[in-house]
Amino acid sequence: MHPYELNPGRTPLNWHHVVLARLRGTWLWREMSVPLEFSQRLFAWAMGHVAQHYDALLAHRKESLLSGIHGTIVEIGPGTGSNFRYYPRGIHWIGAEPNRHMHPYLRRAAESVGLEIDVRSSRAEALDLADQSADVVISTAVLCSVDDQGKALREIRRVLRPGGQFIFMEHVAAERGTVLSGIQHAIQPLWSCLAGGCHPARDTQGTITQAGFAPVSVERFRLPLGPIAPHIAGIAIRPSANLPA
Ligand SMILES: C[S@@+](CC[C@H](N)C(=O)[O-])C[C@H]1O[C@@H](n2cnc3c(N)ncnc32)[C@H](O)[C@@H]1O
Repeated sequence: MHPYELNPGRTPLNWHHVVLARLRGTWLWREMSVPLEFSQRLFAWAMGHVAQHYDALLAHRKESLLSGIHGTIVEIGPGTGSNFRYYPRGIHWIGAEPNRHMHPYLRRAAESVGLEIDVRSSRAEALDLADQSADVVISTAVLCSVDDQGKALREIRRVLRPGGQFIFMEHVAAERGTVLSGIQHAIQPLWSCLAGGCHPARDTQGTITQAGFAPVSVERFRLPLGPIAPHIAGIAIRPSANLPA
């Protein structure tokens, strides 16, 4: 699939989405796949170098949320495997990482901690997994980048068994009306290009709490990361009966 495959259900629709939709199928569109392939490779390389600094800022939260998991774990967008060192032994790990340039980093990171991995190229919006087949789904700094958060969260809920946990740690939109919120919106197109499609101003907390999980426990906090300072971390439980989403 072309890396700029547009999802018609994606919201909000910004000017750059409209430009990309018009380019679709043209000569320029086909030519763009070369630089986009390069940018995916570059992003994987950059993640391999910066992920550890980001990880250090989240270390104690990751330790407390990830070290007690067990069973079948599905991690969406695992990147270069920065979460592997927090996982206990004996888990069955499946990763959905659409950027295949991340896969060699994942294999190396897994080898270094003795974790057996099953890494796939599927996107969070279309997981190639059976209903109710996972005990835990993990997302750290991924819901900022998926094409369609609603679709990804429906997939996460689908693959989780009743009572299963969705563990998340994400940077999110600043409070509306603040200077930081204005900055997040202003830099979004350039930021998305440079950071693998990341959107700095998404209301991920709102989307998770309305996605049919219950209960949802969320901690809101800030990290010294400029435009992506506001963060959330928490656990959302897949209820036994389907809640309307
Ligand atoms: C900022 S990186 C975070 C990597 C890792 N989770 C971490 O915490 O270090 C975002 C990751 O999400 C992946 N990603 C982007 N869109 C995705 C999608 N639709 N489904 C699954 N993963 C996606 C990217 O390829 C990248 O590996």
